[in-house]
Amino acid sequence: MASLLLCLSATVLFVQSTVAFNCSQKPIYVDIHKRAVHDSPVFQYGSFIGLGTPAQNQSLWPSLQQNHTSFASPTYCKDNSTLKNCDRSTGGFYNHQDSTTFIENDNFKTLDQVETDFKSFFGQETLRLYTHFFETDGASQTLVENSTIEVAEQGSITPARVGVGSSSTLLRDLAAQNIIAGKTYSLYIGQGFDRAGGVVNGSNVFGGYDSGRFTGTPNQYPMNIANVNPMSVRVKDIIITDSNNANVSLFDNTVFTDMKSRPDEFEAQITTEQFPFSFPYQITQNIIAKLGAVQDNTWGDNSLKLKNAFNGTLSIVLDDGFTVTLPPEVLMNASNITPIQDRDEKSTAPFYLGTAFLGQVYLMADYESDNFFLAPAVQKNNMVMPVTFCPKSTPVAYERPNQSAWQRQGLIGAVVGGVLGGLGAIAALYCLWITWMRKKDERKLKRELKKNRESKMEQMDLEDAPTFDPPPKNAAKAIFWRRNKP
Ligand SMILES: *[C@@H]1O[C@H](CO)[C@@H](O)[C@H](O)[C@H]1NC(C)=O
Ligand SMILES: *[C@@H]1O[C@H](CO)[C@@H](O)[C@H](O)[C@H]1NC(C)=O
Ligand SMILES: *[C@@H]1O[C@H](CO)[C@@H](O)[C@H](O)[C@H]1NC(C)=O
Ligand SMILES: *[C@@H]1O[C@H](CO)[C@@H](O)[C@H](O)[C@H]1NC(C)=O
Ligand SMILES: *[C@@H]1O[C@H](CO)[C@@H](O)[C@H](O)[C@H]1NC(C)=O
Ligand SMILES: *[C@@H]1O[C@H](CO)[C@@H](O)[C@H](O)[C@H]1NC(C)=O
Ligand SMILES: *[C@@H]1O[C@H](CO)[C@@H](O)[C@H](O)[C@H]1NC(C)=O
Ligand SMILES: *[C@@H]1O[C@H](CO)[C@@H](O)[C@H](O)[C@H]1NC(C)=O
Ligand SMILES: *[C@@H]1O[C@H](CO)[C@@H](O)[C@H](O)[C@H]1NC(C)=O
Ligand SMILES: *[C@@H]1O[C@H](CO)[C@@H](O)[C@H](O)[C@H]1NC(C)=O
Repeated sequence: MASLLLCLSATVLFVQSTVAFNCSQKPIYVDIHKRAVHDSPVFQYGSFIGLGTPAQNQSLWPSLQQNHTSFASPTYCKDNSTLKNCDRSTGGFYNHQDSTTFIENDNFKTLDQVETDFKSFFGQETLRLYTHFFETDGASQTLVENSTIEVAEQGSITPARVGVGSSSTLLRDLAAQNIIAGKTYSLYIGQGFDRAGGVVNGSNVFGGYDSGRFTGTPNQYPMNIANVNPMSVRVKDIIITDSNNANVSLFDNTVFTDMKSRPDEFEAQITTEQFPFSFPYQITQNIIAKLGAVQDNTWGDNSLKLKNAFNGTLSIVLDDGFTVTLPPEVLMNASNITPIQDRDEKSTAPFYLGTAFLGQVYLMADYESDNFFLAPAVQKNNMVMPVTFCPKSTPVAYERPNQSAWQRQGLIGAVVGGVLGGLGAIAALYCLWITWMRKKDERKLKRELKKNRESKMEQMDLEDAPTFDPPPKNAAKAIFWRRNKP
């Protein structure tokens, strides 16, 4: 009973309102994990979004720079694409001829600068944003009619993408059709994709954020609209800490005597276009010297490889002091490969914080005020609690109940808030049901982890399964899903 009350107390909604935006609009939560996609023989990692009528389901990679939401045409892999394992890496395929809702738009002018080998066409189509909390259950969908989509015919990038760049047509359409409160968006990219080698899944929240996914007061930064990736930050220090807890700053010219003076802070773009970090040349040289790194291209992204294993961490310190630390299993995987890219001395490419960075932080973007927020991501035992991100407001983390009962019971994914709409009775059944579902999921996850000890990440250590009696399964489920069917 006590835990039931705990669960209920968590159903409190965070409702904010302003004059200009309807902040009573619920956000749309779209999860990111591996799943079956249209016309592909393998599961692919990405955002669960379908399109067309009938639906062709895809896994879309979020892009913080691309403005269009794009899909691969069936010809994408036929025209000499250099995308590795193209037929199983596009995020699915979309055949516009099979859809009754596609309308081609020949005159549309792209908002994106693209690589020269990239070819595409545009049209209006019905997008289906799926909200799917549990693998074992059905999804609910939010339809975005007449949304502008891009169909990629040729190129070398992963073509299925959620475009959430600063002129995102998807955010524009969602806001214009009053489906969300305003052009706000939040992302946790997760670590369940091959390059990251982890198991934690991610999520998108359109018009909202997942208040259970981060902790503390989020740090605010202005967007730099001049950059292709407008979410850019200034890095003032990078520190390597070894297993004896000794710290070395890569900016310290008394340690790295190649440097005549302490280097200036530098601007780095947060991007999902690459996994590794791209640091200034001299900083990269200091890493090579300190950790004994060598060039490598196993992943096609020039990530450095260590000659000898290193059981330490790397911390990135931003100009406001916010510090993001890569744990040992991210700084160096089982094959000694780091998430740090080699850099040519003459390179003029921007500096990047890639998805290795985003695996550790929660990103919340407000395109109405051109600000964004970063906070440490909760990776373990997070509670999915999507709430509205009212434009111009500061996101607030869900405050976990003080009794560790909540955690002890292992409610690693209680879905509260936005979904429930405050109906007490349903919430009660729902909480019970969730607990029971989670128990099942945890057992499964434990099996998975056992199977794959090598890739086990510290963050995913799970606590004991709860000792709940299972609820009347059918009743709980029926009520829950009736309420959520569109
Ligand atoms: C604001 O959104 C809520 C929830 O969708 C809706 O019920 C209400 O009518 C909207 N108000 C306005 C002024 O559009
Ligand atoms: C991530 O999603 C996959 C489905 O692709 C699921 O099998 C797995 O259990 C999820 N991982 C976690 C940690 O929840
Ligand atoms: C693909 O490569 C072949 C052989 O290299 C070439 O003949 C053909 O023109 C190329 N096709 C495209 C669309 O570039
Ligand atoms: C997206 O649009 C913005 C303008 O709002 C532009 O600065 C940016 O370069 C565009 N993205 C790409 C990939 O071209
Ligand atoms: C697409 O996903 C939705 C939601 O899970 C599902 O209902 C539908 O059957 C799927 N469509 C196909 C063709 O797999
Ligand atoms: C989408 O476009 C079609 C044709 O232009 C129109 O009939 C329909 O009402 C539009 N739907 C929405 C939701 O705008
Ligand atoms: C580390 O990267 C290599 C690629 O060389 C990959 O084969 C291996 O599975 C990765 N290991 C882990 C634990 O992620
Ligand atoms: C790394 O160091 C920590 C303590 O600093 C230790 O608990 C852990 O076992 C070490 N891991 C390896 C692989 O040596
Ligand atoms: C290294 O830095 C960490 C974090 O700031 C600190 O906890 C630790 O005490 C430092 N180690 C030493 C030896 O000063
Ligand atoms: C939770 O406990 C801590 C210390 O045990 C206390 O400082 C804090 O005020 C408590 N928070 C609430 C919400 O009770």
